Amino acid sequence: MSTATAGYTFAVLTMSDKGSRGERVDESGAYLQGRLAEEGYQQRAYAMVPDRIADIVQQLRHFADDLKVSLVVTTGGTGLSPSDVTPEAMNEVLEREIPGMAEAMRAASMAKTSRAMLSRGRAGTRGTTLIVNLPGSLRAVQENLEVILPVLPHALEKIAGGTADCGAAHD
Ligand code: MTE
Repeated sequence: MSTATAGYTFAVLTMSDKGSRGERVDESGAYLQGRLAEEGYQQRAYAMVPDRIADIVQQLRHFADDLKVSLVVTTGGTGLSPSDVTPEAMNEVLEREIPGMAEAMRAASMAKTSRAMLSRGRAGTRGTTLIVNLPGSLRAVQENLEVILPVLPHALEKIAGGTADCGAAHD
């Protein structure tokens, strides 16, 4: 656990038609909750919604606008199936895009599987909340999360208005 993560809150949102019907155990969401807590982040919420833009938007706005969590990590719905609408829902949620976070995850994931290029996951901010989309499978969640964990404390500090010198430290 790092002291850099103390004080930051998080929520996890799983997009899954099957999961929301009770037909699939949400391993990816469970993993995210455990791993982020292990890093020292404080969990505020968890939800699972079907792959429906209105449901996703409502839940993300609730996490950011009402709960004001520091970080929301989502899993699922980033691919190419007709039901995958997570990136489209982000159009109605994000205020500032952070393309580099999604690019970094795809770039690192390409070393594991060329299918990584098929994820359309995005990252950005709404108010003082950082929202990051990960793909749906447990393996993809594990691999992608490790890419962003080292940069999260600095990103969250900046989003919260911190004035620390960016050049002061490297991963
Ligand atoms: N990224 C990593 N690191 N590892 C993976 O196994 N799976 C890919 C991709 N990104 C994968 C990955 C696959 S197969 C798909 S279809 C896309 O993520 C989109 O996944 P989603 O539709 O579950 O969000």
